[in-house]
Order: sequence, then structure tokens, then C-alpha cells
Amino acid sequence: MKLLVDRKNRKYVVHDKEFHTEKGVIPEEDIKNAEVGDVLETHLGKKYTVIEPNINDYIELMKRKCSIILPQDLGLVTGFTGIGYGSKIVESGTGAGSSLLFFANIIGPEGHISSYEIREDFVEIIKENIAGTDFENITLYNQDVTEGFKEEDNSIDLVFLDLPKPSEVIEDSYRILKTGGFIAVYTPYVEQFQIVSKVLGKTGFKHIAIREGNVRELEIKNNKTRPNSRMAGHTGYITFARKM
Ligand SMILES: C[S@@+](CC[C@H](N)C(=O)[O-])C[C@H]1O[C@@H](n2cnc3c(N)ncnc32)[C@H](O)[C@@H]1O
Repeated sequence: MKLLVDRKNRKYVVHDKEFHTEKGVIPEEDIKNAEVGDVLETHLGKKYTVIEPNINDYIELMKRKCSIILPQDLGLVTGFTGIGYGSKIVESGTGAGSSLLFFANIIGPEGHISSYEIREDFVEIIKENIAGTDFENITLYNQDVTEGFKEEDNSIDLVFLDLPKPSEVIEDSYRILKTGGFIAVYTPYVEQFQIVSKVLGKTGFKHIAIREGNVRELEIKNNKTRPNSRMAGHTGYITFARKM
């Protein structure tokens, strides 16, 4: 798989086949022989740079049928929980697999991530999305997560929840987390994190903190530099806590 990027930063996944664009065609032979850094041109002169997709490119272009977690929120979870090479993570729901693949990439072959998704039709899409990568550190369960995690007690570094009712699995999350391990719960609404933080406290979690990952992109223009007026105004709140 290769990625073609045009001058407006639009990205296209190409396999070893003729590539049709609104501004002409790139022959199969050119795609097959292309190397990272090459610039390919259609017969009408439109140019595309060839790159290898990184994890964010891959997530942006993969199949999905639900809203996914964006890089600014995944960055926040990574930064505040300190997960890294070799970490053990459990998450639910899997959705399209955005958080799953992002974390799988960070923890590497020495780490492991299990993900629980209730919907069979979503699981089919997630399997396809996983198959397009070479990660071997993922276990996917087509299961209602409220039936209980399969992981052993005190074995996990991070539980990440992106569910309509995350409170239902907070107690089981506490069970599987190592002492010192983190839970991070993503919720779009204030009313949800109010419930989540109460349940976390009652369950025995400490250091409860709610954070938001607002990113402001600046538009740079001659004497007219300002924040972009078409940014995502809100994604979600992330409630963090630690088993102590
Ligand atoms: C917003 S999506 C998750 C998106 C995902 N984090 C991503 O980045 O692609 C929420 C998911 O939770 C799943 N879900 C809801 N209740 C569940 C449950 N009880 N057990 C497992 N999955 C559940 C939904 O089917 C949906 O796929």
C-alpha cells in the first residue's frame, strides 16, 4: 500500500493498479515502480507525492461506521498516562478501531491491547482495519463488556473506555489494573463525566482529573493570521484516575 498526497494535502491510498483522478490517470506501471518521495504525474499533469502511510494517515482513511477518537485526545491519554513500549492496555468499545490501532502502534510488539466490541457488524469492519496493518499485539473480543473483562487481576497498565455507559465497567477495570495503573474515560458530555468521576471515587480510584484536548489551529496569512474559523469546537472530556 502507498499513499499519494496532492498539493492540497488530500490523501489517496493506492494499490498496484491504475489510479484514476478527476485530473487524469496514473498508469499501473508508475504506481508499481514508485518509491517513497517520488512525485507521480497524471496524463493531465496533476502531481502527487508518494509516501508510506503512518498510523494517523491509516486511521484517517480506514473504514468506519461510528465516530472515532481523534489524535488530540489520543495524545492526551498517552501523555497523561505515560503508556509506552511494552504497556498492557484494555479498551472498549472498539468502534472502528481508531484508539485500538493508535495504542497498538505505541506499545509495540512487547505490549498487548485487548479490545471489546458488542456489535458484530462493527467487528467485521475492525477486523478488516486490523488486517491492513501488521500489528500482532491485538486481541479483539466480540462481547458485551459488561459481562466482564477476560484479563487477570492486577495485570493491566491502562483501561481506556469510550462507551455510552462507562460507569458499568469501572469496578471490573479496577480489578484488572495494576496498582499505579490508569483508567481514562472518554465522554462527550458533562453529565457523563459527573457520573463517571463519582463512581471512580466510590470504587477506590485516586487522583481523579478531568481534561479536555482542545487544539487551535492557526491560519497563517499576510497580516491576517488568526485561529482557523472551521475547527472542531468540541470533541470530548477525558476523566483520568489511578489505582492506588
Ligand atoms: C464511539 S464508539 C468507540 C470508538 C473507538 N474508540 C474508536 O476510536 O474507533 C463506541 C463503541 O462502543 C460500543 N459499545 C457500546 N456498548 C458496548 C458494550 N456494552 N460492550 C462493548 N461495546 C460496546 C459501540 O458499539 C461502539 O462501537
